[in-house]
Amino acid sequence: MSEVCAIVGCGLIGRAWAIDFARAGWQVRLFDPAEGAVEAALATIETLLADLVDNGLLSPEARSEAAARLEPAASLDVALAGAGWVQENAPERLELKRELWRELDRLADPEAVLASSTSALLPSRFTEDLPGRERCLVAHPLNPPYLIRAVELCPAPWTSMETLLRAETVMRGLGHSVIRLAREIEGFVMNRLQAALVEEAMKLVAAGICTAEEVDIGLKDGLALRWCFAGPFEVGDLNAPGGIRDYVTRYRSVFDSVLASALPRPDWTGPVLDEIEASRRLRLLAEEIAHRQRWRDRRLMALVRHKKEASETIGD
Ligand SMILES: NC(=O)c1ccc[n+]([C@@H]2O[C@H](COP(=O)([O-])OP(=O)(O)OC[C@H]3O[C@@H](n4cnc5c(N)ncnc54)[C@H](O)[C@@H]3O)[C@@H](O)[C@H]2O)c1
Repeated sequence: MSEVCAIVGCGLIGRAWAIDFARAGWQVRLFDPAEGAVEAALATIETLLADLVDNGLLSPEARSEAAARLEPAASLDVALAGAGWVQENAPERLELKRELWRELDRLADPEAVLASSTSALLPSRFTEDLPGRERCLVAHPLNPPYLIRAVELCPAPWTSMETLLRAETVMRGLGHSVIRLAREIEGFVMNRLQAALVEEAMKLVAAGICTAEEVDIGLKDGLALRWCFAGPFEVGDLNAPGGIRDYVTRYRSVFDSVLASALPRPDWTGPVLDEIEASRRLRLLAEEIAHRQRWRDRRLMALVRHKKEASETIGD
């Protein structure tokens, strides 16, 4: 596969993928139909690369090399010519994706893998009629993929195993850890996990059991501390002397009684949202959100650096 990547759509996710591919040595072509979008993305990428250097996640030399691998493409066919990987990051609208994917399949090299970043659209919905549909799939990152390792690969029913395996190899080459879904399903894996957790959080607040802030405490000062280096199954495996089976035997009744006392489903946009929003605005004024996003990104970088160092010194 040629190590040329076409980034199609250069908003939040497209530009983050561009960093990811360029850092790993790929030549990256950026295309976006909106006027000035590619130039804006390249300018933002400059700042983001500098942030990575400042936070010890990239050497100054690697930064210059990555920057030199980025090139704007004036049209879709220029972006796609000779590309081995196409990463589509257009807005999350089905009709737009269907139309765009017809073009991607028509213009891309027959050997190229076509991947969508879509958060929620099933790949079968926009690849069904394509002659090259077996080389199409979803490669869904969390934002930003140059910091967050997990990527989920979701096939359509007709995606070939060869495509999936090639995609897995490419993602691992970028340093990602991969969730390879056996078949497509709404929300893929990570958003299904997230949905279950957020739904329970909404229920707890709606039922007046705890406040919105206390939900956040339970995660950031509680569960997520372990979950950020060991998932719930590994946590269970280590929480009973005999491992996961022992854990389930000991604690299954706890989970059974929780599930048997399920709270009613709240309307996410109803009074519970008023309460959560009021709690958040007490902590953070709306006009301070952008500033706080910078804080979040810096915290994320510090955590990524720590995880890397801990993997090296303590082990995975
Ligand atoms: N934002 C996230 O946290 C996140 C996370 C994972 C996946 N995604 C997915 O990534 C995709 C892009 O999301 P985003 O947040 O980067 O959106 P965005 O609005 O920041 O960027 C979308 C870009 O696509 C461009 N565009 C519009 N029409 C296009 C076309 N026909 N062809 C190519 N590009 C076109 C726009 O000009 C814009 O620059 C969506 O499918 C979204 O679900 C987003």
